[in-house]
Amino acid sequence: MMKAQLIFGLLLVALFFSGAKSATFTLNNNCPSSVWPGILTSSGPALSTTGIELPSKASSVLDVPATWSGRIWARTQCANVNGKFQCQTGDCASGQVQCNGAGGIPPVTLAEFTLAANNGQDFFDISLVDGFNLPLSIAPQLGSGGCTPVSCTANMNAVCPPELQVKGSDGGVVACNSACLAFNQPQYCCTDSFDTPQTCPPTNYSNIFKSQCPQAYSYAYDDTTALASCTGGANYLITFCP
Ligand SMILES: *[C@@H]1O[C@H](CO)[C@@H](O)[C@H](O)[C@H]1NC(C)=O
Repeated sequence: MMKAQLIFGLLLVALFFSGAKSATFTLNNNCPSSVWPGILTSSGPALSTTGIELPSKASSVLDVPATWSGRIWARTQCANVNGKFQCQTGDCASGQVQCNGAGGIPPVTLAEFTLAANNGQDFFDISLVDGFNLPLSIAPQLGSGGCTPVSCTANMNAVCPPELQVKGSDGGVVACNSACLAFNQPQYCCTDSFDTPQTCPPTNYSNIFKSQCPQAYSYAYDDTTALASCTGGANYLITFCP
């Protein structure tokens, strides 16, 4: 009897929360091998998962709360090493597939979202500010205003300058650092006297990212890139290696 009441109560709670969901994210892996997307909530309720495995050509649908901000990225070349889950790029150092509130260690391509409640205006972008690990695209679906897809389809790893390259265990380039990450200098990181859009112009390094992926943020004050937006309670399709 107690058990039945408890189950009924849990069902009501589940219904309440599912009624509050406003969107879905469909994650699509078009890469030739598995990726392990990580999800980090920066504000709003956490999603039901913080990390999943997504085999090549597989997709997975996540429910996203009505008001939510956060980021999604792909971890690559992951394996269990001595019982600890580790990835060559985007690792969140949790030792597990779940990231449990940790972000991806750069360099990593980021899909960033701020979703508004009540069919309000969502914002989203692709950021290479923390470097690049693989191409990705974000396509809004069923929204009503704006809602233009954004993508970064170029493989930056193939054109990454040697001083920015991150190599994997097999010696191949697995990711490309931003100049800020590689050199930690104010003109690349937009810090100190470079801390405004006016005093932090593009650099020869950010221009390489920009020329490959014009729709993505190439450095902290990349104001040539408009933040994409979509109203009307859209769902989002996030494709790795579009
Ligand atoms: C970018 O500019 C810096 C400073 O002028 C120079 O040292 C570096 O070699 C340049 N790198 C590329 C890839 O052009």
